[in-house]
Amino acid sequence: MRKAREVKAREVLVIGGSRYFGKRLIARLLAAGDRVTVLNRGSSAPPPGAVHLVADRDDEKSLTAVLGSRTFDAVVDQVCYTPRQASIARRVFAGRTRRYVLTSTVEVYEYEDSIAPVRETDVDPAAVPVDLELPWEETEFLDTHYGEGKRQAEAVFAADPGFPFTAVRVAHVLGGDDDFTGRAEHYASRIRAAHRVLGDRLVSVQNRYSPAVRDSEAELRLCAELGLAFLPWSPLGGISRSSLDGPSQVADARPGAFRAVARAHGVSPQRVALAWLLARSPGVIPIPGASRPETIRDSAAAADLVLDAQELELLNDAAVPVETVCRSARRSGPRPRRGPGGRA
Ligand SMILES: NC(=O)c1ccc[n+]([C@@H]2O[C@H](COP(=O)([O-])OP(=O)(O)OC[C@H]3O[C@@H](n4cnc5c(N)ncnc54)[C@H](OP(=O)(O)O)[C@@H]3O)[C@@H](O)[C@H]2O)c1
Repeated sequence: MRKAREVKAREVLVIGGSRYFGKRLIARLLAAGDRVTVLNRGSSAPPPGAVHLVADRDDEKSLTAVLGSRTFDAVVDQVCYTPRQASIARRVFAGRTRRYVLTSTVEVYEYEDSIAPVRETDVDPAAVPVDLELPWEETEFLDTHYGEGKRQAEAVFAADPGFPFTAVRVAHVLGGDDDFTGRAEHYASRIRAAHRVLGDRLVSVQNRYSPAVRDSEAELRLCAELGLAFLPWSPLGGISRSSLDGPSQVADARPGAFRAVARAHGVSPQRVALAWLLARSPGVIPIPGASRPETIRDSAAAADLVLDAQELELLNDAAVPVETVCRSARRSGPRPRRGPGGRA
């Protein structure tokens, strides 16, 4: 019998990792059996099992001193926001790591409202000009140039072809008990405020919500709690780009649940989507669009389609998971509240 191949634990350094999803990253690395070192300024200790290094990554001398002769398989830099920070990191970590992973952001793209798909290559870090003399240390400047700071940070790392660098352009992250940004809670708190002011005169809330777009989950639940109607607009994800053919189908592991349930009932998947929405809470009133009478009749018939608990569970699983919901802060309203130091 062949011996199972032994997987060697990796030496991973996480810079940051004491506040939000960096904490989850460390927990996952430890659970995977990796040897984890956490470097931050010491505001909190990492979980048991991780080595703690205390240094300010902006101070090149102390960063170099605290690292000593350590080398790593991977460094994950959670808190690099500027080209100046990237320049220090590139100097300090050259020859110290087999891979340097920068937690970047989708805000490096300027095209968040574009209808055309945005491609990874639309921002080529090698072609981004870097200006180290901009006032990167000023919180207000950095706050208003968050995407530019990350873009230029990527550019600094990419400028050295010998530096083993990867940028992960993370979308906006919402939710969890420790979501310090307050973004997930923002809209719900607006509804609560309106409810306090208007009392019974506030009767409904209208938001985009469909199997593919569930960023208003908190608002839907709050409406149920306050006895308000919740009117999902674009409940099928738009007429020309139905969510049933779009994002919800991207999830390969869960193909076709809406269609499978529709086949079982001999009805359209759109009717199933609307019945699923109606089952989310008694106060949900979807407002599907239509240009043909038969579509309107089909949508109206969703009110009579009863889905059992097993079907609802299947559809809940097939719809985009609430915990991975992300959205463009620009597209969906106010700029997100940034975290301490102005960044999220
Ligand atoms: N939230 C989002 O929606 C979103 C979206 C896209 C990308 N991102 C990116 O995700 C990263 C943040 O992830 P996270 O919130 O989970 O953070 P994190 O990994 O938990 O790291 C935050 C910690 O880093 C430490 N730190 C900050 N400045 C430091 C410095 N100069 N030297 C050493 N340590 C320092 C701080 O601890 P001490 O005070 O102890 O130093 C802080 O608690 C950022 O790069 C952000 O741009 C976030």
